[in-house]
Amino acid sequence: MARKKIALIGAGNIGGTLAHLIGLKELGDVVMFDVFPGVAAGKALDIMQSGPVDGFDSAMSGTGDYSAIEGADVVIVTAGFPRMPGMSRDDLLTKNAGVIGQVAEGIKQYAPNAFVICITNPLDVMVWVLQQRSGLPAEKVVGMAGVLDSSRFRLFLAQEFGVSVEDVTAFVLGGHGDTMVPLTRYSTVAGVPVPDLIKMGWTTQEKIDAIVARTANGGGEIVKLLEKGSAFYAPAASAIAMAESYLLDKKRVLPCAVLLNGEYGQNDFYVGVPVVIGAGGVEKIMEVQFTAEEKAAFDKSCDAVKKLIADFKALGV
Ligand code: APR
Repeated sequence: MARKKIALIGAGNIGGTLAHLIGLKELGDVVMFDVFPGVAAGKALDIMQSGPVDGFDSAMSGTGDYSAIEGADVVIVTAGFPRMPGMSRDDLLTKNAGVIGQVAEGIKQYAPNAFVICITNPLDVMVWVLQQRSGLPAEKVVGMAGVLDSSRFRLFLAQEFGVSVEDVTAFVLGGHGDTMVPLTRYSTVAGVPVPDLIKMGWTTQEKIDAIVARTANGGGEIVKLLEKGSAFYAPAASAIAMAESYLLDKKRVLPCAVLLNGEYGQNDFYVGVPVVIGAGGVEKIMEVQFTAEEKAAFDKSCDAVKKLIADFKALGV
């Protein structure tokens, strides 16, 4: 059987890390597309040259021509601009929506059967634009945010409890950003929910509240430290977990931004909820029962995403 083909649109920090992980995990061959094709080709060659050392055979190439992504099984999109000083959120929306519009055209023409993972920010709006403009079925176009947010939450919880990250599960819903909703009663250490751990004296509500706040600001904390650029190792690892679940039909339950169609009483926009990812793409949306407080937090997060979409529509781009 031929190797799978994975197209990476955007060969920046996340794009390069994605290609490296794909090689190390032997998930398939890689084509990197960028408006700077030399950067894409250089990174592809550099990573491929680590193959003999690390023992992988993935073929890697870089291009500025969309036809090279033809027949890709998975497309991961990181193309776009970061928010620069002096740039308003609307400026970023307009610029990145323009980029995503081009990307959507390329995917529609050359990889219409792919499973597409969007990472470009502002995530919940960009993935919606990508699905609308590409016309691909909604179950094949998803946004990466929840896996990253829950990974950050898991790390901070594991550090607080002094246990392995492997034994910590976390449940995060909502939009990517300040309004994300970590559900502590569904977050556990080896199946024991966080509220029970508070009762057991393992931690306090105040410490958990601080961890929740730190998680919601996880991206900002890294931007501040890096001074230029934003997080890329953990975002890349998170998107790879999603791609792997699709390619290997693992049917993992992962929080992803998906198009809601009545689930959670919401319609026609993308937001983060737990879903099953398998060979069919998004095979199932898990609809959990909220408490009144959780529902209010989720609705607030949805309102923030819907406002961003309304702002975007008002820009008329
Ligand atoms: N088509 C293809 N690639 C493009 C286009 C375009 N129209 N416009 C820009 N790019 C490329 C840039 O040349 C750059 O190589 O997208 C890449 C973006 O890479 P970085 O600036 O290094 O950004 P990165 O850290 O990889 O993050 C990408 O993911 O998490 C989000 O907020 C982040 O939106 C950002 C995206």
